[in-house]
Amino acid sequence: MNTFECIKSRNSYRGKYKDEIIPKADLIKIIDAGLSAPSGCNKQTTSLIAIDDKETLRKVLDVIEPKVCDTAPALICVLSENIYAYRDKCYAIQDYSAAIENMLLEIVELGYASCWIEGHITDTDRICDKIAKILDVPSNYNLVCILPIGHAIEEIKKPNKKDFNKRSCFNNFKNME
Ligand SMILES: Cc1cc2nc3c(=O)[nH]c(=O)nc-3n(C[C@H](O)[C@H](O)[C@H](O)COP(=O)(O)O)c2cc1C
Repeated sequence: MNTFECIKSRNSYRGKYKDEIIPKADLIKIIDAGLSAPSGCNKQTTSLIAIDDKETLRKVLDVIEPKVCDTAPALICVLSENIYAYRDKCYAIQDYSAAIENMLLEIVELGYASCWIEGHITDTDRICDKIAKILDVPSNYNLVCILPIGHAIEEIKKPNKKDFNKRSCFNNFKNME
């Protein structure tokens, strides 16, 4: 699969996952893809914790309410540090977003499904903090997102996207439809 095919075939998956063990080599490749992403002033503010131990996985999935990715055989937790690049400039959000997209694409390349789960865990009930506590994450890191990893056993649906010509154009905004 070339990069463009990988980009075009990625979609969020929210169904059930196959019950299996994800090879460590695949998780390491996904992590490596994430850590290879660009970061503002190369501050590398994103850190990752992969969870493949069944007991830890269960503890983490049990604090997520309402349930999402409850059957995922592995998870990657995305941690972010608010390190300033220069003056008042902190690119931590951009840094972890780039890392997440890299990982989502590598997940697709390896034949797995996933979903960027950030909104659900960072809302007012702060599920992210409960997960961080289980994983002994120090207080200077924010746990901002989880990525389930596994083979989809249901259909991966494609959501509607706005038209290409309504979101992009050449040379001048007047050419936008
Ligand atoms: C910042 C961000 C937060 C997201 N949080 C969630 C989430 O909490 N739960 C979820 O099911 N999907 C979440 N998503 C996935 C989006 O809903 C999804 O990307 C969007 O609907 C488009 O679908 P696609 O990924 O199939 O292109 C999030 C995506 C982004 C970029």
